[in-house]
Amino acid sequence: MIDLRSDTVTRPTDAMRTAMAVADVGDDVFGDDPTVNELERAVAELLGKEDAVYVPSGVMANQIALRSHTTPGDLVVMEAEAHIRGHESGAPAALSGVTITPVAGHLGVFTAEQFLAAAPPPPKDLPSAQHDPVALVTLENTHMEAGGTIWPLEATQAIVATAGDLGIATHLDGARLWNATAATGIPEATYAEGFDTVSVCFSKGLGAPVGSAVVGLGATIERARRYKKMYGGGFRQAGIIAAGALYGMEHHRERLVADHDNARRFADAVLEIPNIEIDLASVHTNIVYFFVAAAHEVIDRCAADGVAMLAMAPTRIRAVFHLDVSVDDTDRAIEVVRNAMTKEQ
Ligand SMILES: Cc1ncc(COP(=O)(O)O)c(C=O)c1O
Repeated sequence: MIDLRSDTVTRPTDAMRTAMAVADVGDDVFGDDPTVNELERAVAELLGKEDAVYVPSGVMANQIALRSHTTPGDLVVMEAEAHIRGHESGAPAALSGVTITPVAGHLGVFTAEQFLAAAPPPPKDLPSAQHDPVALVTLENTHMEAGGTIWPLEATQAIVATAGDLGIATHLDGARLWNATAATGIPEATYAEGFDTVSVCFSKGLGAPVGSAVVGLGATIERARRYKKMYGGGFRQAGIIAAGALYGMEHHRERLVADHDNARRFADAVLEIPNIEIDLASVHTNIVYFFVAAAHEVIDRCAADGVAMLAMAPTRIRAVFHLDVSVDDTDRAIEVVRNAMTKEQ
């Protein structure tokens, strides 16, 4: 099966498994797992931040960041299709007691003007208790629902600067920040500049089996460690999996451009197939969305022919390119989609 459902489906390579097998371990809850500590040091350094905490998943990374920046009742501004809003099981309300103020972006990106409209300063003629406080703004780079789209650096910086003026904290969901860097050459630390916290995932494009991190100022990460424990994320000899994350971060960032090339190759070819629509402007990195009349029927036919994809909506299909998909696999997937569409007519 050529599995294009997600970049989370990758299996650790032999070299990654070897690194994991020989990893030095300890009890992470006591803070004495040397491999976890090394991963946290390395990812904090790469992102230009003081400290980091290694956690089991991207959802946990985002949610402990939200909890660390807010108190129940606060408002949090984010793009309407953000992963935190639509794909984290309602956790912002359930775990932090916050309300999300959604902003409709273009390709996942919104402007400082839109942000200001969603987070207006308190009116002078009202008592402050009458004003609902926006405590946090979050961005997602790359933006999954928009197609793995990249936030332009200037747009990011404009939001960070506006948030600074308003005294609003900033969090970047950088689950696939590595892809933005591979595509543009702009270092992760440059994208991360000014954000109070950034979450990154090791288990997506980097091919590690488990884990994400939150990076930020030492005091914020100390708070995040408390919520990691509270949410049941205190794992013990986690160095075994942290070694896979370290290996992925050291060896698999640069190769992400190959995934982007395959995504573009797929998108260009699928565009030529009758009855398929694609917005090529949304294909920036490793994710391709395309539109057909009946997505479930098409993915069922493709699966029967050895290519797995996801129907994200009744007419929308997602194909994601990753470490375990070669150029030949990409060409085969194009062929399978073409056949499935021929059968549809
Ligand atoms: C942008 C984004 N953030 C966060 C997550 C959550 O990661 P996880 O599935 O590891 O919890 C995902 C997962 O696909 C994602 O796409």
